[in-house]
Amino acid sequence: MRRLNGKTALITGAARGIGRAFAEAYVAEGARVAIGDIDMDRARSTADEIGALAVQMDVTDQASIDAAVDTVAAEFGQIDILVNNAALFTAAPIVEITRADYSRVMDINVGGTLFTMQAVARHMIDKGVKGRIINMASQAGRRGESLVAVYCATKAAVISLTQSAGLNLIRHGINVNAIAPGVVDGEHWDGVDAFFAKYEGKAPGQKKREVGEAVPFGRMGVAEDLTGMAIFLATDEARYIVAQTYNVDGGQWMS
Ligand SMILES: NC(=O)c1ccc[n+]([C@@H]2O[C@H](COP(=O)([O-])OP(=O)(O)OC[C@H]3O[C@@H](n4cnc5c(N)ncnc54)[C@H](O)[C@@H]3O)[C@@H](O)[C@H]2O)c1
Repeated sequence: MRRLNGKTALITGAARGIGRAFAEAYVAEGARVAIGDIDMDRARSTADEIGALAVQMDVTDQASIDAAVDTVAAEFGQIDILVNNAALFTAAPIVEITRADYSRVMDINVGGTLFTMQAVARHMIDKGVKGRIINMASQAGRRGESLVAVYCATKAAVISLTQSAGLNLIRHGINVNAIAPGVVDGEHWDGVDAFFAKYEGKAPGQKKREVGEAVPFGRMGVAEDLTGMAIFLATDEARYIVAQTYNVDGGQWMS
């Protein structure tokens, strides 16, 4: 029995990485999945490969969010599951942070999460859908890091938004929860590694190796390590779970 048979899902930022793995896992569990991404070429090729729908979506643009939600709702009838996954990483010492970089990353990671959640929650309430919203937080949201102030702050905000939205939306039968990964290998981490090469003078690949060795489990995560939690939170088994953030990180963080 497939666990998401008959369900529909919108996953933001699913053209690649963790979102793509979630999209594949949801399709394998019987869901119809829409990939909402700013990179439409990549979203299209991913969608073709895994049997999903690609939808143009910039989570910093309200008109784009609304249009994407309308398109997915029209195509699938309704949206049962939203995964707020799109995000951007940035790093810099405090004295080098620029307002432009701060605004861009806050707008995607925090504003994108909040206003996509709002648009989909409005749709779910209108349609009487007892839906699920899963936000992608991070271990970076559990404490600050010397070079990662802005990204850490955005992920702390995602944990907080998950709590408030979880408490506010459960009266409509909408469960909001979050997943906090640790370090997950992929293109995102190639970018992270480059930031540390720049600011800590590390050789390319060195930071990635070091963080992997430091994980209690013994290696970096891969996107597929997270899919079990993403499926579980979308099923009826998780109906009594509200406003929580789960660490899926190989033992990195305890809370
Ligand atoms: N990879 C990790 O180590 C790690 C660790 C903790 C948390 N996370 C979180 O997990 C999520 C997925 O991470 P990932 O490693 O797959 O990232 P990724 O960078 O590989 O993928 C991000 C996706 O978001 C899309 N995107 C960027 N800006 C967008 C916008 N404005 N509108 C719509 N889409 C946009 C990109 O095109 C891309 O497809 C993110 O929220 C990230 O912060 C990742």
